[in-house]
Amino acid sequence: MTGQINILDDSARLILHRTPRDDIKKGITVMDTGEGVRLVDKEGNGYLDMEAGITRPVHIGYGRQEVARAAYDQMCKLHYVTPCGFANEPAMNLADLLAEITPEAINRFTFEGSGSEAVDSAMKLAKHYHYFNGNKACYKVISRKGAYHGVNGYGVRALGTVMPMRQIMEPVAPGAVFVESPYCYRCAYGLVYPDCDLKCAKDIERTIEFEDPELISAFIGEPIMQGFGACAPPKEYWPIVREICSKYDILLIIDEVICGFGRTGKMFGVEHFEIQPDLMTMAKGITSGYMPLGAVGCTDKVMAPVENFFHLHTYGNHPVSCAAGLKNIEILQNENLVQNSREMGNYFLDGLKSLEHHPIVGEVRGTGLWLGLDFTSDKKIRAPFPLQRMNNIITRAKQLGVLFKTMGFALEFAPPLIITKKDIDEALEVLERCISEEEKEMSI
Ligand SMILES: Cc1ncc(COP(=O)(O)O)c(C=O)c1O
Repeated sequence: MTGQINILDDSARLILHRTPRDDIKKGITVMDTGEGVRLVDKEGNGYLDMEAGITRPVHIGYGRQEVARAAYDQMCKLHYVTPCGFANEPAMNLADLLAEITPEAINRFTFEGSGSEAVDSAMKLAKHYHYFNGNKACYKVISRKGAYHGVNGYGVRALGTVMPMRQIMEPVAPGAVFVESPYCYRCAYGLVYPDCDLKCAKDIERTIEFEDPELISAFIGEPIMQGFGACAPPKEYWPIVREICSKYDILLIIDEVICGFGRTGKMFGVEHFEIQPDLMTMAKGITSGYMPLGAVGCTDKVMAPVENFFHLHTYGNHPVSCAAGLKNIEILQNENLVQNSREMGNYFLDGLKSLEHHPIVGEVRGTGLWLGLDFTSDKKIRAPFPLQRMNNIITRAKQLGVLFKTMGFALEFAPPLIITKKDIDEALEVLERCISEEEKEMSI
């Protein structure tokens, strides 16, 4: 097998994240360089990266020296200052820029080191809002089954089903409440849209009444959900959730860690649903992964009662990360990458739809350059597809030089936003070949 360097020997000191020991034994690919939408490993094998770095941050592509220069210049000028009692210009400028491009009422920002920290901070800010408004009791947060919101303390309690990431850390901070997700292809209630009357959204109110609205500080959700593979809810879903949250003064946290910065063909995923969040979390595409950075945005209403945000990360509001973020967003805007995400996303979706005749392809969906292909071993009953078979498909694709990723029972696609039709054609060709090979293997 190409591109495999076995690091599981006496010299292997690096601990990988979320990588089964069996995979490590088979050999781990060491990536070496990146340019545009392509990566090259230590053995010189090239890959078309259809996952923007697998965790999907690389919106502007690899090898952008402008960002490196912006970070270098800021390091030389002022590489660090505490976020407690002091400000710095890149962080202030990035806050101003975000205020311009996020939904109208999101006006106040703080910066963290990652999406997980942003999620934790957003939940803490929500708690501060209620606390300073005199409601010291509310400690519960509503999340959705199947959701992913990071790996830090508060974020872990919002992890819907990612097994066993949450379970292994239990007991987590108390107050996690879960409702059903809008995963229409395999509806938890066995209903079909639109006859379902949006039960998954409307039932949230019953959960709130049951849990006691006085004890609930926030509802968190991604506008388009990763858990089942780039899954957009019906258009009525978020307006219903927004209305319920407002009715009970529960703050709505929209997690834009993946959707933000053009991934879904609009600057932010929430723009597809025309609702106003109370808080927003961002990361990944904010710097395209050039520097670690997460952000929380909130409305004036949320900050108004907060006399002091009792929170402090040494690397909060980091000047170098914020300088990289500013340059990255400038590139996104100057090169019209949000528009490219929309156009290339439509092209890619059409290509994926042409694969729907395959017996194991259940549903194809996508918004901008975030797409999913849900597999099934029986189309009629939408039966789950064996995970091992999906792994076969991505392993084979990697051998053929294309990187894909699984999510739930789906393959997920989230390439850099600079991708071209030619790259997409190449990915589709490899994908179809891998699907056909797997079907042959299954004798269908
Ligand atoms: C929706 C969402 N929220 C939060 C996080 C956590 O971000 P990070 O991995 O930067 O800590 C992720 C990571 O994938 C995410 O997808």
